[in-house]
Amino acid sequence: MEHFTVLAIESSCDETAVAILSAPKKPNAEAPPRLLASVISSQIAIHREHGGVIPELASRNHSADLPVVIRQACREAGISPSDPDIFAATSGPGLVAALLVGNSTAKALALATGKPYISVNHLEGHLLSPFIAHGEEPPPHLGLVVSGGHTLFVDVASFGNYTLIGRSQDDAAGEAFDKVGKMLKLPYPGGPEIDAHAKRGNPHAFNFPRGLLKQDTLDVSFSGLKTSVLYTLPKIIPSGNPDELPPQTLDDICASFQQAVIDVLCSKAMKALEQTGRDTLALSGGVSCNSGLRARLERECSEKGIRLILPEKIHTTDNAAMIAYAAMLHARRGKSDSLHEDVNPNLKLTQDPNRSKTDKSIDNANIEGI
Ligand code: KG4
Ligand code: ZN
Repeated sequence: MEHFTVLAIESSCDETAVAILSAPKKPNAEAPPRLLASVISSQIAIHREHGGVIPELASRNHSADLPVVIRQACREAGISPSDPDIFAATSGPGLVAALLVGNSTAKALALATGKPYISVNHLEGHLLSPFIAHGEEPPPHLGLVVSGGHTLFVDVASFGNYTLIGRSQDDAAGEAFDKVGKMLKLPYPGGPEIDAHAKRGNPHAFNFPRGLLKQDTLDVSFSGLKTSVLYTLPKIIPSGNPDELPPQTLDDICASFQQAVIDVLCSKAMKALEQTGRDTLALSGGVSCNSGLRARLERECSEKGIRLILPEKIHTTDNAAMIAYAAMLHARRGKSDSLHEDVNPNLKLTQDPNRSKTDKSIDNANIEGI
């Protein structure tokens, strides 16, 4: 059977990542795609000093790290950088100069070898990442993407056929974790830190608001929750300085905040499953690493007979395996992109009715609704 090999690059934010995937040209249950390498060089330690991602630092570090990461991935896969049949890169959304590094490198490899180039929407990468380890093409399902930049409820009828049925009206779930982490003077990124503190805390100690929970919408809102944490601090310690919080109180604030996020996400996910009639839920994005969210969804889905697909933890935050997997699905359908294609820092997963359908990056993405 004929196989092809994809080398994919992810550089949309602060992770420089390269993955190499080998797959049969046609879907085959007996021969699932094989991830030959997936290397992630994280810049978190560099940005932590600044309390968040500094875009220029991100692109400079991508430029310095990418050749090393490509070499390492090729070594692990036992191939040379000119061997892959297809080169792919994230083309958006993300930081424009960071995207350009990965994009230009993938195009240069395609140009030098005369092989095709495929651009991938980062959000589609996250959306389908739970299926990398399953070796199947994505079935009809409800996708819940909870990342640093997005909170999306997506009805997936089939690969490329996406309907956005709910989203955050303000902060993304990961953004709320990071902002609350900053308020509590926890190291960046706040998500994993809050997750760790929450394990030792009482989730009912503080009654934080659950935005839009009772409203008849699949949209969510986290800005009121974030503000409520901010206003709670001076009520506990007059200085409002989180350094002065007793350790147990810090753990309780983290657990109560996390519980509010989980309550909102789970309740809307169950509502979305009911509305769409889907029997499979796939969770993705950095926040899908959260242990409380995973445990709660596992319990609720098993009670309701819903098949829950969780990504491997290494595929939750930014990685290139998800970009390689999405590129493989596009390649199977004959997609390749022009080397003239631009990156789009605001690329959407589904079409905004107010946005022109002739948008170049939307057309080139060749995904219905993007
Ligand atoms: O998907 P991702 O790498 O970023 C975007 O593409 O936007 O996700 C990063 C986000 C950060 O906001 C980080 O705080 C959050 O994922 N995150 C977590 C956990 N691990 C990472 N949030 C909650 N609990 C975690 N364990
Ligand atoms: Zn991401």
